[in-house]
Amino acid sequence: MRELYYGDNLEILRQELPGESIDLVYLDPPFNSNRSYDLLSTTRGGGSRPAGITAFQDVWAWGERAEREYGEVLRGPNENAAHLTAALRGVLQDGPIMAYLVMMAARLIEIHRVLRGGGSLYLHCDGSASHYLKLLLDAVFGHENFRNEIVWHYYNKFSAGKRSFAKNFDQLLFYTKSGRYTFHPLREKREQPMRQLLRENVDGVLKNKKGPDGKVLYREVTDKKVDAVWRMPCLQPAAKEMLGYPTQKPLALLERVVLASSNPGDVVLDPFCGCGTTLHAAELHGRGWIGIDISPLAIRTVEERLLRAFSGVDFTTHGTVPVQAPLRSTA
Ligand SMILES: C[S@@+](CC[C@H](N)C(=O)[O-])C[C@H]1O[C@@H](n2cnc3c(N)ncnc32)[C@H](O)[C@@H]1O
Repeated sequence: MRELYYGDNLEILRQELPGESIDLVYLDPPFNSNRSYDLLSTTRGGGSRPAGITAFQDVWAWGERAEREYGEVLRGPNENAAHLTAALRGVLQDGPIMAYLVMMAARLIEIHRVLRGGGSLYLHCDGSASHYLKLLLDAVFGHENFRNEIVWHYYNKFSAGKRSFAKNFDQLLFYTKSGRYTFHPLREKREQPMRQLLRENVDGVLKNKKGPDGKVLYREVTDKKVDAVWRMPCLQPAAKEMLGYPTQKPLALLERVVLASSNPGDVVLDPFCGCGTTLHAAELHGRGWIGIDISPLAIRTVEERLLRAFSGVDFTTHGTVPVQAPLRSTA
């Protein structure tokens, strides 16, 4: 299965995806950052600058759409989500953050429906709304199905925090649909190899192992289990995999998600797929995939990306994608 949908993910989830059909969902929705995101063009010095073409907006306001989706959440199948959303509206009133959370609540309910019993979800967000999103996920998935809050620490981004500390991490909220789910522990290289004492069982007592010269023996350990802090660089403008799509995530980050929480042949869904990093990781590791995005530029970038990375890959694009300005420009 390799399907790419152009359009609003709420409609596509409701109309196209049957219940219990997906094994893993990764979503990297807008973060409520109150800005619009332009395609980036590469400069001669290897830097980047906005190319003047808007890829998507992350600006929210309470309006007709928020009111409609709020009503749908309240009348929907998930009572906890309905109670929580109503309570949040009581506190946050009809402002941008509430419009954003209603948008997310409606979609998380559908995502929960399409996930199989053994499926997992990773919601990529940051401190702008992570506290509210965790409440919503507890309501939709059940608090008992919360697995991890993963911190992606991107140590190579130096944003100058003038009146607060500089931000250098995002969060991935990891939930599963039930207590029985796919999980493969992963290992990564240590920054510094570690010396570990060799031990042996001598007549039921664990003792340090010694060599013929009587010296204690060690082994060098060069890797470790991946824990919940993922130290990985974010993409720099000159990075080989950089496509110029704003907010593009590193392929290595998505490979971790795919390898930890799915098996070959499983179906991975990214309902806010942007330039298709999740789909690329899924294809690379033999998983099926479904990507959805409302931006024509995103869909065109995904098509170009996948055809370049996997020659002859056979996927279907659904929806009529309008013709746009050229994707990339080099100044
Ligand atoms: C933060 S970006 C995702 C970036 C992606 N993870 C990547 O590596 O390229 C969020 C994406 O969500 C899309 N989006 C926003 N609202 C949407 C909606 N209602 N339905 C589908 N896509 C939506 C935007 O067009 C944008 O491409």
